[in-house]
Amino acid sequence: MAAGIDDIGIYIPRLYIDAADFAKARGVDPAKLVKGLGISQMAMVDTNQDPACLAANACLRVMKKNNLSPDDIGRLYVSTESAFDESKAMNSYVIGMLEQVYGSDSFEHCGGVETKFACVSGSYALYDNANWIRAGEAEGKNALVVVSDIAKYDLGSSGELTQGAGAIAMLLNDNPRLLSFDSKVTATSIKDEYDFYRPFGKETPIVHGQYSNLLYLIQVKTALMAYKKKALAQGIIKLKEGESILDYIDYICMHLPYSNMGKKALAYLVRHEWRGLPRWKKIIEKIGMEEPVPKDPRGTIESVLGDTEFMSKDHEFTKLFTKTEEFQDVYESKIASSLIGSTMIGNLYTASLYLGFRSSLEFEFQKGIDLEGKRYGFGSYGSGSSAMVFSGIIQPGYKEVIKDMNLETEIGPRKKLSLEEYEEIHENKRSRTDNILDGKEEFVLVDIKTIPEQRGERRYHFNG
Ligand code: CAA
Repeated sequence: MAAGIDDIGIYIPRLYIDAADFAKARGVDPAKLVKGLGISQMAMVDTNQDPACLAANACLRVMKKNNLSPDDIGRLYVSTESAFDESKAMNSYVIGMLEQVYGSDSFEHCGGVETKFACVSGSYALYDNANWIRAGEAEGKNALVVVSDIAKYDLGSSGELTQGAGAIAMLLNDNPRLLSFDSKVTATSIKDEYDFYRPFGKETPIVHGQYSNLLYLIQVKTALMAYKKKALAQGIIKLKEGESILDYIDYICMHLPYSNMGKKALAYLVRHEWRGLPRWKKIIEKIGMEEPVPKDPRGTIESVLGDTEFMSKDHEFTKLFTKTEEFQDVYESKIASSLIGSTMIGNLYTASLYLGFRSSLEFEFQKGIDLEGKRYGFGSYGSGSSAMVFSGIIQPGYKEVIKDMNLETEIGPRKKLSLEEYEEIHENKRSRTDNILDGKEEFVLVDIKTIPEQRGERRYHFNG
């Protein structure tokens, strides 16, 4: 049985900080954000928004767009790394909010959980729900998988330059109009690591930035190798002499903690895949330098990062490689459109891979390209750490789903925050009721109880 994504709903808070202004305020060259990391704006939540109401807003949008009633939904999963309760799952808050619109107990028949594994958990939720559908358990109902996060780092930290917020709700069923997952090729890798984590009670993560970058690349490569093995064994891809698996993946979407990580990851994977092929010789000639190797090629991530001579040569090599016509072709045709949304919005943790997919669909469609039958490959990464690589094929009904997609209109009129407003919100110094914007047709957080017997209970309101 087929299973895949039928439609996508998106909700992005309308407040944002401008990357260039922000860099200046932090004494950083604006070019580092705009060119180095690929960030123009970062979406920020208002005082009356939390990851649960972002998730509910995204669900409502996809349900309204498709005239769905709660009866059409059999499962509602929320994947997040911005959880605010150690026990109560975020999907229960979302159900509560949706029932304000659809009626009390209208989702009673529905099941689901909150899933956690940093930024990769949404991909596990998609996989598990696709398998629920494939197993014939869905009885004609849809699953909603919602990825929702607020990427928030300490003031003044290097991670502060890579923040963002938003939610994406994916509607899954057995006759998807948008993307049908390739079956039996989903591949994972996993390792106990401390590249990025958020201990209990801490609002912001502890991050080892450069370590996390390299670990991301290694983990996704490992999962890609496992995917390759499966894809060849399943026969969905057949390689001829001198070909790479990437030649058969029309579009690539990567986890995007910042937009340029997509390019960095693509370069790393392409280098890995092409290295053993005849085409590599020509590329090395063009670049004019041999590909550097670390002093200890089997060493740890720390030893590679500590090998400063290798790191600097590798940086130089990567820069030259990404300028070659061969890489530029792959970059422009397979990934560039997926990076636009991230540049406009910033890091969405669990949702950033799917913002990339959403962005690719919109901007490739605008180019007039017929996407039917094209294969999308997904490289998902979650710190801590695990990667997942999977793929799917665009379905004949896709045009109906994506023809009106427009990120700018779907975000709505945005308001730029001053540095003072941003810092007040960031440090929770502004009261919840002192919200900057008043959204229509959306859920907002109105109260968090403080009396001991109700501590932490959240109340939401639908601004109709
Ligand atoms: N003009 C143009 N470019 C500039 C520049 C300037 N003046 N200054 C620096 N740059 C470039 C650098 O060359 C670099 O580009 P390359 O990657 O192509 O080399 C880029 O800007 C970033 O510069 P640095 O690496 O020096 O920046 P940094 O040390 O401040 O760290 C970061 C960047 C590691 C991403 C940091 O922002 C961070 O810790 N972010 C949070 C963690 C993170 O996002 N990790 C990513 C992988 S883990 C993950 O993906 C999970 C997740 O969602 C968090």
